[in-house]
Amino acid sequence: MKIAIPRERRPHEQRVAATPETVKRFCSLGAEVAVETGAGAAASYLDDAYEEAGATIVPDAGGAFADADLVLKVQRPMTAEEGRDELSQIPDGTMLVAQLNPYGSEFEIALRAYVRKRIDAFALELTPRITRAQSMDILSSQSNLSGYRAVLDAVYEFGRAMPMMMTAAGRINPAKVFVMGAGVAGLQAIATARRLGAIVSATDVRPVAKEQVESLGASFVMVESEEAASAETSGGYAKEMSEDYQRRQAELIAETIKSQDIVITTALIPGRPAPTLVTEEMVTTMKPGSVIVDLAVEQGGNCPLSKAGKTTRVHDVTIVGPVNLPSRLAADASALYARNVLNFVTPMIDKENKKIAVDWEDEIITGTCLTRGGDVVHPNFKPEQPAPEPAPAAPPSEDQDQAGA
Ligand code: NAI
Repeated sequence: MKIAIPRERRPHEQRVAATPETVKRFCSLGAEVAVETGAGAAASYLDDAYEEAGATIVPDAGGAFADADLVLKVQRPMTAEEGRDELSQIPDGTMLVAQLNPYGSEFEIALRAYVRKRIDAFALELTPRITRAQSMDILSSQSNLSGYRAVLDAVYEFGRAMPMMMTAAGRINPAKVFVMGAGVAGLQAIATARRLGAIVSATDVRPVAKEQVESLGASFVMVESEEAASAETSGGYAKEMSEDYQRRQAELIAETIKSQDIVITTALIPGRPAPTLVTEEMVTTMKPGSVIVDLAVEQGGNCPLSKAGKTTRVHDVTIVGPVNLPSRLAADASALYARNVLNFVTPMIDKENKKIAVDWEDEIITGTCLTRGGDVVHPNFKPEQPAPEPAPAAPPSEDQDQAGA
């Protein structure tokens, strides 16, 4: 049973899918682990530490993939269409566990390649939000760090202090921070901004967020609506709201945002573009020097003015569009991601016989497995069923024959 850990090659990616700690655990489960040289270097995990944990260091990704049963990655392997072909190096019939970004662009090409290469591909971001899978939830572990880092980015761009300060030269007022979307990232942003001394408020469409926000010492603002009662899916995610709700929400945000110094937007709807929450008109009403950090920028953005990977100044407001924030905390993000992966993979390992033995009926497996043995198996990604063949036309009756003649 061989596990491969290649170096990540997508731009902005500094994380690694296994750390020396998790390699040690995989080895104790009977696996051989091959780590591409330098795979963890950007996250400060060096080859020596992997070797000490029991891995073999190999000079390139091809060496890591050779004879591998299981490939662990952070990001989806790139295809030739994406500029660098990582996928063709992965041997046919291998298992792949990674964030596969199945709702992102170019995924169709990757999916077809998994089918062609008979790769059993598992998309970790689809892990069901059930208690048993909490320790495998990469969205939570990574979003938490994003929320923290987003506040630091905002503070860095903000030309004022966060806490109230009484000085001999006079008083500095505390900054006002507004967090939109109080999920995992939003709650951590609230906690971080509070620790820095800001006055924090937050909003969400899910009413359950109110208690969580308030328990962190922030105030909650929300559209009062019966629709909110059904705003949450059984998986804990938000739904897309009606036009009427969106109009009322826009009025509430427009009113709130005028008095804010920093706005952190984190609102996402799985499988859909991020909702627009901060319009250009709202930005024009914000105070000069205010800062927006749009954490949803990679899913289309909560503010139409934000640009992925760029910090811009529009209407005297600084707008930050951070790309892959967890990667900017690569050591911690990798440590948590690698533990998520270890927890996901461990139940697949038959320790006694030192081989992979997947329970294909397990709901965590059925929830995440996209392709298996050359077929798309996940219901959300199965190709459209072909329309049934039209019934053969009945032979024309004699009457019709005559009519047509
Ligand atoms: P997410 O990243 O999909 O979305 C971020 C936040 O944006 C969510 O709180 C969502 O309600 C909010 N949002 C969406 N549309 C919005 C709009 N139009 N206006 C304002 N806010 C909007 O969500 P995330 O952070 O992954 O978590 C969602 C929920 O799942 C949270 O309650 C979290 O506590 C829960 N959760 C449960 C886990 C479990 O294992 N049971 C694990 C992790 C999270």
